Amino acid sequence: MNKNEQHIKNIFEIDEWKLIETKIHETENDFLIGESLTSLGNGLMGSRGNFEEGYSGKTHKGVYNGGVWFPDKTKVGWWKNGYPEYFGKAINSLNFLELEIKIDNVKLDLFIQKPTSFLRELDMKNGILSRKFTTLISDIKIDVYTERFLSIHNPEMVYIKYSIKPDKDCNIEIKSILNGDVHNLDSNHGEMFWDSVSSTKDETNTFVAIKTKPNNFGVERFVVAGAMNNEVNIKHEKKIEVKPLVGTEILKIFVKANENCTLIKKIAILSSRNHEKSKIKKIALDKLEKSDDYEKAKELHFAKWNKRWENGDISIEGDAKSQQGIRFSLFQLFSTYYGEDSKLNIGPKGFTGEKYGGATYWDTEAYCLPVYLSTAPSYVAKNLLLYRYDQLKQAKHNARQQGLDGALFPMVTFNGVECHNEWEITFEEIHRNGIMAYAIYNYINYTGDEEYLKTNGIEVLIELSKFWASRVHYSKAKKMYMIHGVTGPNEFENNVNNNWYTNTISKWTLEYTLKSLKKLKITDEIQLKKYELTKKDLIKWEEIQKNMYLPYSEEKKIFVQHDTFLDKDMMRVDQLKARDRPIVNNWSWDKILRSVFIKQADVLQGMYLFQENYTKDELKKNYEFYEQFTVHESSLSSCIHSILAAKLGKIDDAVKFYLRAARLDLDNYNDDTKDGLHITSMAGSWMSIIEGFGGMRVIDGILNFSPTIPKIWKSLSFNILFRKNLIKMQITNKEIKITNTKGENIKIKLFNEDVLLEKTFTKII
Ligand code: BGC
Repeated sequence: MNKNEQHIKNIFEIDEWKLIETKIHETENDFLIGESLTSLGNGLMGSRGNFEEGYSGKTHKGVYNGGVWFPDKTKVGWWKNGYPEYFGKAINSLNFLELEIKIDNVKLDLFIQKPTSFLRELDMKNGILSRKFTTLISDIKIDVYTERFLSIHNPEMVYIKYSIKPDKDCNIEIKSILNGDVHNLDSNHGEMFWDSVSSTKDETNTFVAIKTKPNNFGVERFVVAGAMNNEVNIKHEKKIEVKPLVGTEILKIFVKANENCTLIKKIAILSSRNHEKSKIKKIALDKLEKSDDYEKAKELHFAKWNKRWENGDISIEGDAKSQQGIRFSLFQLFSTYYGEDSKLNIGPKGFTGEKYGGATYWDTEAYCLPVYLSTAPSYVAKNLLLYRYDQLKQAKHNARQQGLDGALFPMVTFNGVECHNEWEITFEEIHRNGIMAYAIYNYINYTGDEEYLKTNGIEVLIELSKFWASRVHYSKAKKMYMIHGVTGPNEFENNVNNNWYTNTISKWTLEYTLKSLKKLKITDEIQLKKYELTKKDLIKWEEIQKNMYLPYSEEKKIFVQHDTFLDKDMMRVDQLKARDRPIVNNWSWDKILRSVFIKQADVLQGMYLFQENYTKDELKKNYEFYEQFTVHESSLSSCIHSILAAKLGKIDDAVKFYLRAARLDLDNYNDDTKDGLHITSMAGSWMSIIEGFGGMRVIDGILNFSPTIPKIWKSLSFNILFRKNLIKMQITNKEIKITNTKGENIKIKLFNEDVLLEKTFTKII
């Protein structure tokens, strides 16, 4: 371990399919890390790995519903024109996990009754979380076994099983709770986001509905409703108590020594995103009533997870750490989003924490889209594009807020309107608009769906180009177009001039839009008018793109991150002291901004996107120059470095950066896993393997591979969905086997040579 990485440790054991924890980690940080890592989700909702029975040590309770959020008023002393009026927050929602358990009147709390044995397992193959522990409560020894899953077969259903076996006769009381009295850790002064709608009961079931508080911004109020039922296998008394926000089923059971008392808690969770508010109660209770029993539901849930793995698994033989890392990444990514609900998107923390507001970032287009293009039917990637298309009106509003033309897609959003209120991000991190155009290109290039350009893509491209044309200015001194006052992908610098990445991607957007207009024959004044364009606009765009200023150092033969980057104190990362890392936690913001340290790939991000435009030598010079200053304190960084390192044959670097991407949370690299997981960067782990070690690129619509794997990996296998084909790659250090498992014959390229892939093609290397 490098001296700068002393906080890195595994709190879970290395296993290819599981996360296994054999003791309760009592330090606050480790306990919270454990809660984050054992989060579960089913695309519609999710929860952190909180213990059902509660824990009086430090815990971060988290249960979230996709797309349910609250607009929190932006309050700043010095208001600046253009600030978003509110900050969008992913909010803690109706908590379905809670159980309060008393054994002979003493409350079970593992912070107090330390277990003598403990096992927590997250089984990623089947999508289930379980615990097994033994503890002494008064003088009664209890063995407990718990399981829970959020069904992916029936995504509005949650199932919990909780078994207690005491070694003496005793009275057990279980309070099973549906709790809407919940708060965010990051809320101001414990502010509450929910009002009660109704809490009711019948003979056997409990119903609780809550509604987000009114707001002044015209943002819809969401209703979340839960219907719950609890059954125990032993004769018991059941009483239901309801009050505003909370419903509780109280079960009293006399349990004989060594008898297993098993509770099954079933909960249907619905929201007004998918159901009419007036009908939600009936639908929730019906859903609960008609739901499968525990074992059947579990079987269906397992089968669906297994199917997901059949298509999407990446298998690495010979390196369990790497294997666990990629499976964990895919598990958490697919738990957050599997493309089933086109109105949802992928929040950087998914359902595992509150930080980042849980909304949509540029991460989706830059990192997640490639994964879904290759692992899911093409409508999933298309839905991700349509999500933005549907928000074009709001993006135009965002541009207007900044006094600019066209559309500015938000840095952070739930509904298309910018809802992030740091000026250096909202006003300045405009490179985000570039990846929106790139995503359209990427989707069409990958799927061959040219029709999309005509139906939706072109409209977006035009608005993006209008934006860039109004954001650039002409420098008479240099006789070039420039973009001043921006934040590039490297958020450790703000208000820089001519960020190479931003200028490059805006130039490319203008170029791609012009090409697309030509392709669609939208060139005469009548056609252009439909898009509020004239020929003059196109001439201007051409002039800007041809004369865009791109900082370059002749001396170093590198692209320069921005105008004054090379004037900084060029201290290298290896000169930093261990106590300084991560610098975001240990340095003042002022010191960070002045430093040369790069949070995440910036110039290299651009070179990664447009790889075909650069020679290997250019790539090498830039990689070697920027790598020495990059601290990778964004989860989006190391995967890009890993892909470029693999391309340059720097295989040790490629592995190091792959592990950092894939095990970022498992090993707590950036000392922030406690806040939740880095979901969007999990897509980066997939990219490192497929695009890095697999060397996959789609160039002019042709699938290319240039595989290279580390010596310690015995083999690497993965599947790629490409148009109508399902292609299986099996790579060892001796041979490459490519199997066309579904679809017609297809022409691909292997190490730049044409290959007609009929059925199985094997290359000995
Ligand atoms: C990164 C951004 C990213 C955001 C959400 C930040 O730390 O700098 O590029 O969009 O996290 O993942």
